[in-house]
Amino acid sequence: MKLSTLLSISSAVAIASAQQPAYAQCGGVNWSGGSICVSGFYCFKQNEFYSQCIPGTATTTAATTTATSGSPATSTIAPPVASITSFAKAAGNVFNINGKSQYFMGTNSYWIGFFTSNDDVDLVFSHLASTGLKVLRVWGFNDVTTIPSAGNVWFQSFVKGSTPTINTGADGLQRLDYVVESAGKHGVSLIINFVNNWSDYGGMAAYRSYYNLSTTDQSQWYTSAAVQAQYQKYIATVVARYKDNPTVFSWELANEPRCNGCATSVVTNWIKTTSAYIKSLDSKHMVCIGDEGFGIDGGTDTSYPFGPGEGIDWVANLKISTIDFGTAHLYPESWGETDAWGTSWINIHAAAAKTIGKPVILEEYGTATKANILVWQKAVMDSGTAADMYWQYGDTFSWGQTHNDGHSIYYGTAEYKTYVEDHAAAMAAKAV
Ligand SMILES: *[C@@H]1O[C@H](CO)[C@@H](O)[C@H](O)[C@H]1NC(C)=O
Ligand SMILES: *[C@@H]1O[C@H](CO)[C@@H](O)[C@H](O)[C@H]1NC(C)=O
Ligand SMILES: *[C@@H]1O[C@H](CO)[C@@H](O)[C@H](O)[C@H]1NC(C)=O
Repeated sequence: MKLSTLLSISSAVAIASAQQPAYAQCGGVNWSGGSICVSGFYCFKQNEFYSQCIPGTATTTAATTTATSGSPATSTIAPPVASITSFAKAAGNVFNINGKSQYFMGTNSYWIGFFTSNDDVDLVFSHLASTGLKVLRVWGFNDVTTIPSAGNVWFQSFVKGSTPTINTGADGLQRLDYVVESAGKHGVSLIINFVNNWSDYGGMAAYRSYYNLSTTDQSQWYTSAAVQAQYQKYIATVVARYKDNPTVFSWELANEPRCNGCATSVVTNWIKTTSAYIKSLDSKHMVCIGDEGFGIDGGTDTSYPFGPGEGIDWVANLKISTIDFGTAHLYPESWGETDAWGTSWINIHAAAAKTIGKPVILEEYGTATKANILVWQKAVMDSGTAADMYWQYGDTFSWGQTHNDGHSIYYGTAEYKTYVEDHAAAMAAKAV
């Protein structure tokens, strides 16, 4: 998901209260919303494009703040329930996880790798495990264009005049290490991606500005040798850390890669090259794309998402031998469609994946009204879609709630029971 789209929802709320809520955006290039955070949070500049309200005050680091702000004691966290002993793999149109072919429900947390408290990470995984959510998709990137102060998490820097640097320190990839460790202890697998199309947490824009690429010709990111060398270097660094760890469900090339106005061959060639590169480093894990599912034959429906305008040919990309399964996202509100339209989006991807003989995951879905969620979940089950992962998981800590972008569904609420617990159980019970 592109956070800035969603944040317009929470910033509308924030304008009324004049303060940005927890985890909301509070600054960045062209940001016109508020820059003051609610009590207990301060506006931290992640990079030139994105500042976010995080726990603490500007004079204390996030590390010490979250650690001392009364995070739940370890004793309140449920003990690990399972361990993952075998590598997940595609099995026809479903997945085999920990030795069992199954349908499943999962969810998304872009923020968990940026937490500085291990207890907070453990609490999330204990809740996911007890709900029966099998897979969590996390951001495996956090690109910055200025180095934040100590105690603030970043993974890779693109500072003009300096060589790009991958942060393997305590405020760097060691935070992702803890996510992998905790997930494994709780029997939850991870989809880990390597770059964002959007400028949240740096993304392609951070590379673009460092390497002086055109801001209008999007194909340059995908074809620049310098960009791809650094992107592959980052991939190699992350893959090396967990290549023998079955907690990783799949590597993912990017969050919502698009190449507006480009020939679809630009992205297809990049997928071929990058997925083959990952398989050359690590033949045990699956690889997926992370795209939204654009550019697929919609029959008589020729509306925007089905077209090739975003430079994606979904079927051609899924046929690539080093891609193990397909992904689709569903945000009708952002695409000029009705919520009811979402059912055909789910069915069309499931049918195309079936023809190709690979699974498909409805990897993100959300709607502000939540009115159609149960309808979409029924379509997931009826169509044989292998899994669905709602956007986005929410949880409550002693310092408050995680980012509410208008789509968040919080653990322990009545909504969570209706849209998450019940469907997770139904997916797990569905016969393969
Ligand atoms: C900020 O807005 C200006 C004017 O609309 C635009 O040219 C520029 O690309 C924007 N910058 C970013 C990072 O979105
Ligand atoms: C992501 O995709 C959109 C739509 O094609 C594009 O406008 C944007 O520039 C891309 N983001 C970056 C950082 O390249
Ligand atoms: C980008 O352009 C600036 C100014 O011309 C130059 O100093 C810098 O070396 C260029 N960066 C790269 C990575 O080529």
